[in-house]
Amino acid sequence: MIKPKKSVAQMAAYLNGKHSHALLSQNARLMKLDSNEATISPSPRVTAALTSFIQEGPLNWYPDVDSRELIQKLAIYTGCPESFIQTFNGSDNALETICRTFIEPGDEVILCMPTYDHFRVYAESCDATLVPVFGKNPFLTKTEKLITVATNQTKLLYIVNPNNPTGLLYSVSEIERILKVLPDVLVIVDEAYFEFCGLTMASLVNQYPNLIVSRSFSKAFGLAGLRCGYILTHPDNLMAINKIRIGKNVNSLAQVAAVSALDDLEYMEHYVSEVKMARKWLAGKIRKMGLKIMETPANYILVEVAHPLQVIDHLETHQVFIRDRSFFPQLEGLIRISIGHQLLMERFWKVFEKIPTAFLVGGNGAQIPDNLAIQ
Ligand SMILES: Cc1ncc(COP(=O)(O)O)c(C=O)c1O
Repeated sequence: MIKPKKSVAQMAAYLNGKHSHALLSQNARLMKLDSNEATISPSPRVTAALTSFIQEGPLNWYPDVDSRELIQKLAIYTGCPESFIQTFNGSDNALETICRTFIEPGDEVILCMPTYDHFRVYAESCDATLVPVFGKNPFLTKTEKLITVATNQTKLLYIVNPNNPTGLLYSVSEIERILKVLPDVLVIVDEAYFEFCGLTMASLVNQYPNLIVSRSFSKAFGLAGLRCGYILTHPDNLMAINKIRIGKNVNSLAQVAAVSALDDLEYMEHYVSEVKMARKWLAGKIRKMGLKIMETPANYILVEVAHPLQVIDHLETHQVFIRDRSFFPQLEGLIRISIGHQLLMERFWKVFEKIPTAFLVGGNGAQIPDNLAIQ
């Protein structure tokens, strides 16, 4: 066996949700609520544009490596100049490319914990020294702590906003303080769930060259299977990133789909408002069972249960797939449930309400403070 490099040999792999072929092909009625994808198909305009592209092509040519049409549309959507925007094969690919562009072996990378674990994998595989920062309470911001742990070796700081899975949201002024105090640290604000919460740091990118905002078409736009994401940052950063970015990775179908999705914002906005209503509805039902909930500003909720693994197993026997977060430090007892359209959440509730009470109540996690739930 050829040995992988030391950092890869030593690191823990990212644990995916249930993406297996078997699961996806099994049956249309299973409830996939484990990866926060949209639960409905993308806009009919997207489907029409994809069909026409498949028929007329050119599928035999490489895609537009500059994603020119998509970037024009993104400039309108984000309010950022085209020169500040770059597209990727999903925002994961953007995060990975950023790590490969900026991290030298031994550079410190601050992770605002607990958080989306894939970024840890990208940073670690680039031989970064990880600096995971936990606050006393995972549902409260820790701006000053993040600032004080930074050293001369710190290269990157990663914040997901709103955070996956806690839903924690840093304000513009908190992010601005970090950007001002740490001008030599590249701050990545991952806005994969921007459309659900509406708060963005996009307007800060032309003021702070040390800021990168990353976004996704996988969540509110329903394009997870096609892979498309983008970043907003100063053109100087893009110059470096573009040296190693693989433009062909943003495939033709992904570009066609993302352009058409941006042409039908109404469809996306309608879905987002349905998710918000369904989130509130389901949270109300689960709270009435006496369980503690973190109703995040994104398309998922966290629920505190006595026996997370039994709850997950029980749901899986009913073809419902959610995500265990209870093995993360500070998230003991917590499961994450993606929220989708109302009809689906009503089907979910019918299964959830029948979970044996012994699996749900009686734990001693007490992770979610009563007075912190975001309404
Ligand atoms: C915080 C966060 N960032 C990035 C991603 C990946 O998004 P994409 O599908 O655009 O690669 C996810 C997916 O769950 C996520 O939760």
